Amino acid sequence: MRHPLSVVILAAGLGTRMKSSTPKVLHKIYGKPMIQCVADAVSKLKSSHNIIVISPNTEDVKAVLKGYNITLAVQKEPKGTGDALRSAAQKLKGFDGTLLVLNGDTPLISPAMLQNFLRLHRQNKNDLSLISFTVEGSHSYGRIIREDGRLKAIIEDKDADKEQKKIKEVNSGIYAMNSNLLGLLKEIKINNKKGEYYLTDIIGIAVKNGYKAGAYPLGNETELTGINTREDLYKAGLYIRDMIVSGLMRNGVSFVDASSVFINPDAKIGADTVIYPNVHIEGKTVIGKGCTIYPNARITDANIGNNVIIKDSTVIESSTIKDKAAIGPFAHIRPGSIIGPSAKIGNFVEIKKSVIGEGTKASHLSYLGDAEIGRHANIGAGTITCNYDGKNKHKTIIEDDVFVGSDSQIVAPVKVGKGAYVGAGSTITKDVPPLSLAITRTEQRHIEKWAVRKMKQKKVERAKR
Ligand code: UD1
Ligand code: CA
Repeated sequence: MRHPLSVVILAAGLGTRMKSSTPKVLHKIYGKPMIQCVADAVSKLKSSHNIIVISPNTEDVKAVLKGYNITLAVQKEPKGTGDALRSAAQKLKGFDGTLLVLNGDTPLISPAMLQNFLRLHRQNKNDLSLISFTVEGSHSYGRIIREDGRLKAIIEDKDADKEQKKIKEVNSGIYAMNSNLLGLLKEIKINNKKGEYYLTDIIGIAVKNGYKAGAYPLGNETELTGINTREDLYKAGLYIRDMIVSGLMRNGVSFVDASSVFINPDAKIGADTVIYPNVHIEGKTVIGKGCTIYPNARITDANIGNNVIIKDSTVIESSTIKDKAAIGPFAHIRPGSIIGPSAKIGNFVEIKKSVIGEGTKASHLSYLGDAEIGRHANIGAGTITCNYDGKNKHKTIIEDDVFVGSDSQIVAPVKVGKGAYVGAGSTITKDVPPLSLAITRTEQRHIEKWAVRKMKQKKVERAKR
């Protein structure tokens, strides 16, 4: 039998406890907006409608939901969760089936838990179900009121008396209901303490009207946490980080201090790679086997081969690093670069949109931009490719086995032929033929006894004073 399913995510309201000008559901958990976490989880369910309730004038919320199979409903004023679901009801006209309702601030839920919950709702032939969980200590969740073990109502923290406050079973804000129960929303009365319509009141109303309701303790406090404050947000991020890091360790990745790293869930890292403290691996980065990533490196959308060494405080963006290359410390590999196998890029070297050939070395203090450098070349300390004429960018070609002496400027467009040498301190503006030496500095000359004359002059001046 087919069970038609629709999903409503409540994501309007103020989120005042975040103390932010950004809507709560846009705050990021481990790099991903909260609302996308919930939308991703429900997108794994086979539902006919996915509706998200948002506040008016929240273009930025719409923007992060682009590309999702979602209908937006607008709640005109933040008048509570009951009113929020009512705002979605218009989009559900004619829908006959099960409605899954979730809070948009519960980002750690898994599709498996939701599927399990929907199965229980159907198996028990309930009209209304919810996921509950147990919390220790003080909190602001709604308490589950049971009578003879059966779900009777939810009492919000603010309205609970001393005895009710002691109840440890609480509401997760995830409900399944038969679509005909939407009719009960109009019976929810405004809560005078908060001036809001509580969706949680629908439980008591349904039970009083003879509908069958059930609460299922399916997850733990961490997975079902509702993010209300910056502290909740931070703790949820730590939970995700721990899951990612544990998964990588199971696959053979080592961490020196896993508590200090950031690793995007989409990143892939090979076995026997060692990650030192404070490393950030962002975007869709792929790192091969046997690599060492030393402290404070930030690697974004990069493709890194096997046995690569990334030394301290190196930044790599949208670039490819081939096997056995060594980068850093303090190197900056900017987008569009390809660093060849066994190449060595050292201290304070910046590389932009350049291809560096196999075994080539640029060990100190260089800028290489829009350059194509062959194999086994040696780029001396302080070499600069002058790629910009103030208007356009130009290309530098340095062929295999070239030796560029220190402190040289290579003014593009220009080509240094295979096996050529550039004398230290040269400014190269013309193509250099293969196997030749290009040198542009003036010849060294000596002025004999110059220092002796200088000393005498100083003595005279001192005597005058
Ligand atoms: C709610 C539940 C509480 C439950 C907890 C679980 C109610 C009255 N209380 O409390 O029983 O234990 O979640 O985390 O529902 N929202 C709107 N429009 C509004 C107000 C809120 O769309 O006018 C959305 C918010 O974006 C949020 C969700 O509904 O995603 C829950 O609202 P929130 O104010 O965080 O409710 P809690 O006080 O946490
Ligand atoms: Ca909440």
